[in-house]
Amino acid sequence: MPPAAAFLAPAILIVLLARLAAAASPTGVECVLFNEEYMTCTWGTAETLSTNYSLYYWYENRSPVAECKHYVRERGVRVGCRFAGRELVQFQPFRVRVNASVGGQSREIPSERMELQDLVKPEAPVNLTVRNLSSNELELRWSSPYPKAWCLEHAVKYKSNKDTSWTLGVKREIFSLPSVDHEKSYTFYVRSKVNSYCGSTRLWSEWSVPVAWGSDGTGKGGHRSGWLRCAPGEHWLWIHTVFIPVISSLLMLVLIVLLVRMERVWVIFMPRIPNPSKNFDELFITHKGNFQEWAGVPKDVVESFKPNYSESICHVSEVPAKEGAEPPWEGSEGPAAAPAGAPERGPQHNSYVAV
Ligand SMILES: *[C@@H]1O[C@H](CO)[C@@H](O)[C@H](O)[C@H]1NC(C)=O
Ligand SMILES: *[C@@H]1O[C@H](CO)[C@@H](O)[C@H](O)[C@H]1NC(C)=O
Ligand SMILES: *[C@@H]1O[C@H](CO)[C@@H](O)[C@H](O)[C@H]1NC(C)=O
Ligand SMILES: *[C@@H]1O[C@H](CO)[C@@H](O)[C@H](O)[C@H]1NC(C)=O
Repeated sequence: MPPAAAFLAPAILIVLLARLAAAASPTGVECVLFNEEYMTCTWGTAETLSTNYSLYYWYENRSPVAECKHYVRERGVRVGCRFAGRELVQFQPFRVRVNASVGGQSREIPSERMELQDLVKPEAPVNLTVRNLSSNELELRWSSPYPKAWCLEHAVKYKSNKDTSWTLGVKREIFSLPSVDHEKSYTFYVRSKVNSYCGSTRLWSEWSVPVAWGSDGTGKGGHRSGWLRCAPGEHWLWIHTVFIPVISSLLMLVLIVLLVRMERVWVIFMPRIPNPSKNFDELFITHKGNFQEWAGVPKDVVESFKPNYSESICHVSEVPAKEGAEPPWEGSEGPAAAPAGAPERGPQHNSYVAV
């Protein structure tokens, strides 16, 4: 039915797009240097990799080629390599080669020249505290576990319980909110990134654990449990890969169930069976139930099918046999070849109708 198709088509499209977006995860080798402590380079997942690759790495002007010492495995398959801090040198061109041999053929996952200072992802800020500097000014402070604090820039996002969207704040180490409404409560998050003097990373830390400050009693600064909220940064991927496909699949299922139910409801409320009494008025009133008269069928023919009257309609074609006439099937097509009620018996059925 066309309205159903119009509904289903976008739903199917959404599912397909979500699948595509999930499948089109970046190929190649991706390295992230976590808080200057360790680095991981990953090249896929257990789903996307059919073989165990090996990783070799070297610094262009320094060391010889070495193989990865600690492979990261997912269900037994190598998906990445973990480097300890002492293996890492910044401001040196760093290369990796991820290769495997499959059936005598060598395969390689493409990778580019990197500089590790560009791959730093700091750890999220901790120990967020809020205090009021005056009756209407708040100050937010935090500390960062990242060893080179001078290399960081920060972003604050906050909103009051009356706001619907987040406001993004500045890059400095201390953040102050100059006009505070004491009727409201506020929630703050902070995240950090290596600034342009220390590297050219695009990688932000995760958002910190939130801190709340508000009118409703207890929490004048400090942590308030139960205020943990999903930060878009860390959960966007989850929403993207799990939430959208699941929701669109559910939507489709609901649509299909609805359609099936609608069909049933139509059948229940709009029966297509016409009122038979109308057609048979003539038979019962004018001809007093005399079927032969009403139908205008010759008496002998009527007589002949009386014995078979209660049987299923396809047996009606046996009529001529009772009259001693040649049975119509005694020839090329036998009755065994055409089972009772089968549509193949159409011609015989027609001959009855024509009588
Ligand atoms: C990868 O290596 C692990 C451990 O050596 C092995 O158990 C697994 O079967 C290998 N997988 C493939 C796809 O070769
Ligand atoms: C992978 O590359 C390394 C370094 O170039 C090389 O030594 C090794 O033989 C290669 N392995 C395969 C299976 O191609
Ligand atoms: C902080 O706010 C409270 C009332 O909300 C006020 O009593 C206190 O004086 C303020 N502190 C400062 C330093 O202004
Ligand atoms: C955060 O606070 C705890 C407890 O007060 C302290 O032990 C820790 O060192 C602080 N973290 C940073 C990065 O300052």
